[in-house]
Amino acid sequence: MSAEGLDCSSCGQHSSSLPDVDLVAAAEPERTLGAAFIDSRLAARIYQSLWRPLTFGLSSGFRKPSFAREAELVLTQLARHSGPWLDLACGPGALAERMLARHPEELVVASDLSSAMLQRAAARSRAFRVRADALNLPFADGAFGAVVNLAALDLYTDPERALRECLRVLKPGGAWLGSCFVWPERWLRWSRTPLLAPLFSESGSHGLTAAALCNLLRRVGFTAIEERAFGGYLLVWAEKPPISTG
Ligand SMILES: C[S@@+](CC[C@H](N)C(=O)[O-])C[C@H]1O[C@@H](n2cnc3c(N)ncnc32)[C@H](O)[C@@H]1O
Repeated sequence: MSAEGLDCSSCGQHSSSLPDVDLVAAAEPERTLGAAFIDSRLAARIYQSLWRPLTFGLSSGFRKPSFAREAELVLTQLARHSGPWLDLACGPGALAERMLARHPEELVVASDLSSAMLQRAAARSRAFRVRADALNLPFADGAFGAVVNLAALDLYTDPERALRECLRVLKPGGAWLGSCFVWPERWLRWSRTPLLAPLFSESGSHGLTAAALCNLLRRVGFTAIEERAFGGYLLVWAEKPPISTG
């Protein structure tokens, strides 16, 4: 992958000057209810101005930082890592836009499963836009210096597999900069009751606690895990171990 274009690691297809490429495998991937719900033109239109502030605020007890503050926190971490950078599950592209505004020299790939979100991203950002499934990333091993993955783990059918894919496409020493809504332990107990359990498994809500997310990152192979909680909203930085010279 270079500023001149993007090569698909599985089929070899080359795209010279995007705007958009669809690199989802032939069969549409399975989605959680949440991922299906958010994939609409209406959701994409109202996401940044209404949906994100309202639902993220409610879910974090209104303790989550504003998007501008959250973006600053991510950009500060990002600056410690070389490009190219991937904004995975980028939504309508607001963060990718800021990444490029701050670092116009970097190659930024904005990727999402939702065509509606990517169409919104096209209007606001010069990032390469790639439609892809987080569980099956169409990028070569070690392609990125950092993967940003905000507020999407909950919407994946298999968050562990998505994290393994993030690790795979990172360079040694590269960073995963993610976030997730986390639950207090007592909520988890309710979600496992016979009445509520089917609802939670259907919606794809994985009910991660902060400790469970950090354990998951560790199990997948990330190190140097740091977390910062804002009510029920957790920002997490983690790194792919550097190649041992030893
Ligand atoms: C809550 S939005 C977060 C958007 C953005 N990262 C942000 O922080 O505002 C979750 C995004 O994940 C995307 N998504 C859900 N499942 C996905 C998957 N399997 N692969 C890639 N993107 C996915 C949705 O389409 C949606 O744009």
